[in-house]
Amino acid sequence: MITLNRISKSFGSRILFDDVTITFNPGNRYGLTGPNGSGKSTLLKIIMGLEEATSGSVTLPDRVGILRQNIEDFREMAVLDAVIMGNKRLWNALQERETLYTVEMSDDVGMRLGDLEGIIAEENGYSAETDAEILLSGMGIPHERFTQKMNALPTDMQFRVLLCQALFGDPQALLLDEPTNHLDMESIGWLETFLHSYKGVLVVISHDRHFLNAVTTHIADIDYETIILYPGNYDAMVVAKTAVRERSELEAKSKEKKISQLREFVARFGAGTRASQVQSRVREMQRLQPQELKKSNIQRPYIRFIPTEKAPGKIVLKAHELNKAFDDLKIIKKFSLEVVRGDKIAIIGNNGRGKTTLVKMLAGVLTPDKGSVELGHQAVISYFPQDHSSLIDKKNKNNAFEWLKERRQGVYDQEARSVLGKMLFGGDDAFKPVGTLSGGETARLIIAGMMLTEHNVLVLDEPNSHLDLEAVSALAWGLSEYKGTVILVSHDRDLLDTVATKIIAFEDDGVHFFDGPLEEYLAKKG
Ligand SMILES: Nc1ncnc2c1ncn2[C@@H]1O[C@H](COP(=O)(O)OP(=O)(O)OP(=O)(O)O)[C@@H](O)[C@H]1O
Ligand SMILES: [Mg+2]
Repeated sequence: MITLNRISKSFGSRILFDDVTITFNPGNRYGLTGPNGSGKSTLLKIIMGLEEATSGSVTLPDRVGILRQNIEDFREMAVLDAVIMGNKRLWNALQERETLYTVEMSDDVGMRLGDLEGIIAEENGYSAETDAEILLSGMGIPHERFTQKMNALPTDMQFRVLLCQALFGDPQALLLDEPTNHLDMESIGWLETFLHSYKGVLVVISHDRHFLNAVTTHIADIDYETIILYPGNYDAMVVAKTAVRERSELEAKSKEKKISQLREFVARFGAGTRASQVQSRVREMQRLQPQELKKSNIQRPYIRFIPTEKAPGKIVLKAHELNKAFDDLKIIKKFSLEVVRGDKIAIIGNNGRGKTTLVKMLAGVLTPDKGSVELGHQAVISYFPQDHSSLIDKKNKNNAFEWLKERRQGVYDQEARSVLGKMLFGGDDAFKPVGTLSGGETARLIIAGMMLTEHNVLVLDEPNSHLDLEAVSALAWGLSEYKGTVILVSHDRDLLDTVATKIIAFEDDGVHFFDGPLEEYLAKKG
């Protein structure tokens, strides 16, 4: 059981949620929802004690597994270790034992080693490696990866390892922050089944409607400066939330009407003889005092990409027999492609097939081992990387406005502010330090950067992960209206359906090129 007791959190004058009391019970699976920047990750950190609440307290079980969005913290670790680390008590005991083996033996050291063996046995330390391996295999990590360092793995695989870390040690509560980002359909299916069989308390943050509907029994929604618990899945929450909102709006309206009638009465007879009636109406008015309804924090950004005035030639990009391998692993083999001006190409396929490696080469940020990428006449690429930290890292001291101004030399403040406003960084939000931005806010800022810079070819690698539903649909619109060329990697059906007119599919039997939308490709594939 996890209990939030009168929890409040604000940053400066911005209230995320105020005076929230909620209990999360074992056996239930809670989805934590709300738009980008509403405070979902912050709440998980508060529950874990990684961030302080402004007020209130939390109680939680002994063993809690957590998946955060901090892949970069584990870069130097071996894969197996990263998983075993998920059990803090065991991990600390193992580390200490290691150190004690290197010091000179004494009675004290011997005693301590005995204690440690006790802890290790209690925490099933002797089967730790096997347990970790079972989890890793279940997540589709190949055996030869187990002893490699995390940074030798592609991002999506690192993410799965961290998921195993959260699941390691049989946690009584499991807190997952956007576990489906970086996962393909197949692994999402695996995760759904796994979570269904999970017996503890599950709290999972996601912007993926399908996933939430498949997994959750309850939704805790952050909005109106509070958190409201709804029974049922995501779609049920939306229906209930809308109904509740409509009811309170109606109530507020009828109150207002009542008050204005009372006010009229008081104005008319206030100075007259009906003093007692007037008094009672004044009291009634005070009682009815309309409370201003809190505004919803759901907002839609306005995403529009304008290509450069100079149009590129007919062929905007030509890849010739690209090869790329990491160590002995051949990721891309003899890949050739001609991108025609105006193409909207989707690159789809399961994780680990090399989509990111390919688009990095196309975007010119990674050199192929063999083969060449040629940009067409006057073609200018703007690139959205899968790994946001390569553009905006947590240590960057700039604020959003400063970061954006660095994207284009000589840009006027006003223009930068206007783009920021469209991407929902209005008012003071423009001056938020980029290091404090949420996952979705970071993605929004990168898109703002693309809107400001010159381009006629957009290359985007899973731009939808981290973004909320409103932002993904705004992005789909922006890309489909774009008069330039688009190369897009994504697993998001709605986004792909709206944007793509050509498909490149990385399948088991190789790469397929298809001239038509996703729906037709899938139908043809059967
Ligand atoms: N140290 C800080 N100082 C000021 N503001 C902060 C700080 N840390 C977080 N914030 C702000 O708090 C808000 C909530 O952030 P949080 O990461 O919890 O959002 P989220 O709901 O997880 O969003 P997303 O869906 O994008 O992941 C954001 O607007 C963020 O910019
Ligand atoms: Mg978050």
